[in-house]
Amino acid sequence: MTCDTGLIARHIHRATLCALAAVCLAPPACMADDQLGSQVAGRTNALQRGGTRTALESLLAQRRSVRSFAPAALSRQTLGELAWSAQGVTSPRGFRTAPSAGALYPLELYVADGEGVYHYICDQHAFATLTTNDIRAAIGAAAYNQRWVTKAPAQFIFSAVHTRATRKYGQRGIRYTDMEAGHAAQNLMLRAVELGLGTVAIGAFDAAQAGRILGLKEEEVVLYIICVGQPSSQ
Ligand SMILES: Cc1cc2nc3c(=O)[nH]c(=O)nc-3n(C[C@H](O)[C@H](O)[C@H](O)COP(=O)(O)O)c2cc1C
Repeated sequence: MTCDTGLIARHIHRATLCALAAVCLAPPACMADDQLGSQVAGRTNALQRGGTRTALESLLAQRRSVRSFAPAALSRQTLGELAWSAQGVTSPRGFRTAPSAGALYPLELYVADGEGVYHYICDQHAFATLTTNDIRAAIGAAAYNQRWVTKAPAQFIFSAVHTRATRKYGQRGIRYTDMEAGHAAQNLMLRAVELGLGTVAIGAFDAAQAGRILGLKEEEVVLYIICVGQPSSQ
């Protein structure tokens, strides 16, 4: 082997080792790049779960996205219960069921059902009727025609007035507001399970279109929709 061929052989050898290492260290084909963070690094120790289930544990375990609803409308009382779980006021100082960065409360909550659209006025625990029109099909169209959105007996629509948070936190306030919507929505979904109802969270929608349907001002943007109803038996 000449000096040149030796160099080439060493080079190939290194390349082969690198390729092998790449194959061995690569995540399984079924794992998307964005799941890499969930790969286990280090030793695992199995955790025990107690035999008894608290009410909250049971709600957490039962919550599943439901995309087929019975057509029955939800009572105003039930809509109010769900709205309260998301954004109800739980303290004389105005604090709510869901945490809020700096207690600035950038979220607003609307409910659309077959009889209209209501704005939840959390400090009064009241609904202000915005219209008696049924906008659910229009919201379904804004959600790229997802059938379960159009067919949901009730759509809970969270919007945000971002300036309430960005005034203090700058751009970070937008992220905080998204997080807050998650907290509020999860509260609502767990309460729905408790009431024997099904929910599905909807993030795929045209926010500008949804905002126009609701007649929101430019400063207010739709963030999240939670569809709620009695799960259909089929
Ligand atoms: C931020 C977010 C957006 C979502 N958007 C949609 C959506 O637009 N349409 C839909 O049918 N499901 C949507 N989902 C529901 C997920 O598909 C669902 O949570 C996931 O499949 C896990 O199933 P599970 O909810 O039954 O645990 C969304 C969930 C989250 C958290």
